[in-house]
Amino acid sequence: MKMTREQRYRRIEQAEPGEIVKLEAQVSKCPWRQSYHIQPITGLLNDPNGFAYYQGYYHLFYQWFPLGTEHGMKYWYHTRSKNLVNWENVGIGIEPGGRYDSHGAYSGSAIEKDGKLYLLYTGNTRDEEWVRHPYQCLAVMDESGSVTKLNDPVISSVPDGYTEHFRDPKVWQQGDMYYCVIGAQRTDETGCTVLYRSIDLNNWEFLGEIHTQLTSFGYMWECPDYMEMDGKGVLVFSPQGLDAAGDHYQNIFQSGYLIGDPLNLQTREFKHGEFQELDRGFDFYAPQTMQGPDGRRILVGWMGLPDLEYPTDDSGWAHCLTIPRQLSLRDGKLIQQPVAEMEQLRQQDKGTHIRATIDNESRSFTGFNGITYELICEMSHVDAETVGIEFRANGTEKTVLLYDQIQQKVVLDRTMSGAELAEQNGTIRRCTLTAEVIKFHLFVDSSSVEIFVNDGEEVFTSRIFPSRNSVDIRFFAHGGKADFEATQWNY
Ligand code: FRU
Repeated sequence: MKMTREQRYRRIEQAEPGEIVKLEAQVSKCPWRQSYHIQPITGLLNDPNGFAYYQGYYHLFYQWFPLGTEHGMKYWYHTRSKNLVNWENVGIGIEPGGRYDSHGAYSGSAIEKDGKLYLLYTGNTRDEEWVRHPYQCLAVMDESGSVTKLNDPVISSVPDGYTEHFRDPKVWQQGDMYYCVIGAQRTDETGCTVLYRSIDLNNWEFLGEIHTQLTSFGYMWECPDYMEMDGKGVLVFSPQGLDAAGDHYQNIFQSGYLIGDPLNLQTREFKHGEFQELDRGFDFYAPQTMQGPDGRRILVGWMGLPDLEYPTDDSGWAHCLTIPRQLSLRDGKLIQQPVAEMEQLRQQDKGTHIRATIDNESRSFTGFNGITYELICEMSHVDAETVGIEFRANGTEKTVLLYDQIQQKVVLDRTMSGAELAEQNGTIRRCTLTAEVIKFHLFVDSSSVEIFVNDGEEVFTSRIFPSRNSVDIRFFAHGGKADFEATQWNY
């Protein structure tokens, strides 16, 4: 049942008596609760926010509407972890409802300064005519974890030339200055990012737009992120309004990146290559990165998309975050690999292992099955037309992941995965891959799969909603044979 606008813009204390208890009861009965992904206790989760390392913990906040599965009054919900694997729910991070965030504490980022964690976020407000007025706000978290919002915004107006769609500051430090990129829409309704500079995180100077070659590329760029790796500049953002083109841009909105020379902070010139998508699956959006204490660049994304209904909506919750992924550059591409810490979830050190030649058939092996697990499958000497895996399968359900050797494509098919979702956007995703040996590295949870292909060259992130008895794993080669080597670890 859809909520009215009034219901969606309620804060927690405005819930009806018993409403939250009822939601919690619904959530607890849901068969698709995840086991090792960050998910909301009730209501809707979206973008990861404020990802940072502070006082011995990785802190990861997310956009949260507690009272339902639609987008409404957004809070920042706070989680933390010592190892990027076991996450603790801390509670509300930023509470909306002030003068400058009356309609939501929208996305933003975090940075440590003088022993405190500074949270820079967009305060979303709406006036009586429901016109949006964004403010960039600051909140400070101290050693005890308590968060104090500043009374006034640190950026209180939208510069000329841009619309009310002006949000999601991502802050970083360079030398003794702080910089932030903000996602924006030009008045001609094209998307871009703008750059600000500050000496103290309180006073911000508008420098202007980041000049890319993408002058008309979608109508809004959300959640920008800028980083430097191996002497290159990388600009990540989530453009809205791109038309599907072949295997590309198949989801309602996209997330991707540009790699180029380091951003010139004086001229704001950014010379870059092509826009490349970060993910080839069905459910991935608005990622955010951070740099760990050991220098690793780590990314987490929202495993969901705006404006879609999901099968868990009826159970009072929606969406989760991806597992943390370590980024690197290889051959002009951003490579994503699960952080090494994920191995801590492996229950049996060695896992269950097989090596077999599969010839024009589909085979199951003793010990290979489950609901939550990690699976690595390598296929070599492939003379078959297609090779791959069916997983979360039973007699009627299956999710299919294959390599089509003729077309040189990786294909993920969730047509028969279980409960339907977003079928209007298609049930198959593909991408081109040319390789002799194909390696699929899967992280399967109760209602999701993250697939790292050939050590992170491509990633497919997707929700799937199979029944609890869809636990089978089958390996297949059709139209010829291939050598398979696979290991599974139950989580
Ligand atoms: C992206 C986004 C951001 C915004 C937030 C609101 O999913 O639309 O641009 O800050 O979600 O929840």
